[in-house]
Amino acid sequence: MKGNITFTMIKPTAIERGHAGHILAKIIDAGFQITALKLTRLTTGQARKFYEVHKEKPFYEELVGFMSSGPIVAAILRRENAVEEYRHLIGSTDPAKAEEGSVRKQFGTSLQANAVHGSDSDENAQIEADFFFSKLERFSFQENTP
Ligand code: RTP
Ligand code: MG
Repeated sequence: MKGNITFTMIKPTAIERGHAGHILAKIIDAGFQITALKLTRLTTGQARKFYEVHKEKPFYEELVGFMSSGPIVAAILRRENAVEEYRHLIGSTDPAKAEEGSVRKQFGTSLQANAVHGSDSDENAQIEADFFFSKLERFSFQENTP
């Protein structure tokens, strides 16, 4: 069965450029419910941990540096088939190749500063949501569990 939550971060450049509100509005307009939300800043250690799956990739250290360079907005989003639907909304990783109307096309400035993160599987959505939010920080309009 497809899961109904995904996890997102609005990346530092998008926050700095004042796009957080516009991106959240686009997410809500696309039918996602925000069930947890915070503005925070990752330490380099936390960014390393969050992106551990990429630790062998050539862009890992640069990505860790970028993601800990300024505040980010973290959120849990709820909707049927959330992971897939959200990745469709945000578009391809590289904003230059992202689909017209997608979040990354509209708000991304480079492959690294591509405006938002989106979980890539139901399993990772749970892991990433747990990384940022305690049970007390989550709310559901439908039920009282995350
Ligand atoms: P994300 O995890 O942020 O939602 O992005 P994604 O699944 O579309 O892409 P992924 O392969 O997981 O890469 C994670 C982030 O690393 C940066 N990146 N840089 N310089 C490069 O070649 C390169 N490739 C990826 C991007 O910020 C990407 O979102
Ligand atoms: Mg990814």
